Amino acid sequence: MRSSEQEDRPADLDAVDHEDVGRKSHTSGKCDTVCQVNEPTPVSVLTGAGISTDSGIPDYRGPQGVWTKNPQAAVNATIDRYLADPEVRRAAWRTRLGHPAWEARPNAAHRALVDLERAGLLRALITQNIDELHQRAGSAPEKVIELHGTMHRAECLSCDLITPMSEVLARVAAGEDDPPCPRCGGIQKSNTISFGQELRPEVIDAAVEAARSCELFVAVGTSLTVHPAAGLCGVALDAGATLVIVNAEPTPYDPFAGRVVREPIGQALPALVKELIDAAR
Ligand SMILES: NC(=O)c1ccc[n+]([C@@H]2O[C@H](COP(=O)([O-])OP(=O)(O)OC[C@H]3O[C@@H](n4cnc5c(N)ncnc54)[C@H](O)[C@@H]3O)[C@@H](O)[C@H]2O)c1
Ligand SMILES: [Zn+2]
Repeated sequence: MRSSEQEDRPADLDAVDHEDVGRKSHTSGKCDTVCQVNEPTPVSVLTGAGISTDSGIPDYRGPQGVWTKNPQAAVNATIDRYLADPEVRRAAWRTRLGHPAWEARPNAAHRALVDLERAGLLRALITQNIDELHQRAGSAPEKVIELHGTMHRAECLSCDLITPMSEVLARVAAGEDDPPCPRCGGIQKSNTISFGQELRPEVIDAAVEAARSCELFVAVGTSLTVHPAAGLCGVALDAGATLVIVNAEPTPYDPFAGRVVREPIGQALPALVKELIDAAR
């Protein structure tokens, strides 16, 4: 599996046994149950920006997405542009300072995943999000695998110093438009993975293991276009798991899913979690 962020087709599905997936598939998501289970089903969940839109944080590629409305923002989201252009960095700090995540509260979908964990059904909660709303909802930090890091910390790109984001944003609010590292003077950034940056190997390894060792893999609120995160669906399918997708818009993995739920996540995910908990009783 590749570890640098890329957008492309789900190449991992080349390795999927399509006949087997077809046998398990309930096609268009019209089945009544996810799968017939009489005992606890180990579930791994992959979340994306769509789980946090009800909390007031826009996604990137949905109809109201940051990049849908401003495609140039996507171009500027690469690490090379960030390092090369002070104006890109100044714009990034302004965006961070005014980010809706600082006021955001977890919503019903985040809380449903806490219920899933407390019912003993959650293998791991893999998230592409950087907002820490899963932890704030009550998910155990050791269950949460943050593929793309967290915006609640800043990092120095020269000496790797990690500091609370609140400290750096206080400097921005006080007038520093591109605050340098307090230790070495290097360029600072949020402690997140930009396009062109490598994911941390131990993080992607943990996510792959979680995808391999579940019976049900639930992808929620993600367009499944960013790799390697999206490829985790292929990893789970390869290992024999059933894939469930909860997302308003189509994704490249829909044809391989046992169920595709297009309803709003705030209702759909709590209903799915209730179904899983009831099935395990
Ligand atoms: N909250 C955050 O932390 C946040 C926000 C924006 C972007 N990001 C980062 O950007 C990348 C974006 O990729 P992604 O796949 O996660 O997001 P994305 O923007 O590519 O896709 C989000 C998907 O969620 C769907 N969606 C949005 N709200 C929904 C709702 N209420 N009900 C049903 N579906 C809904 C959209 O239709 C869209 O297909 C991630 O890697 C992440 O690191 C994070
Ligand atoms: Zn430094």
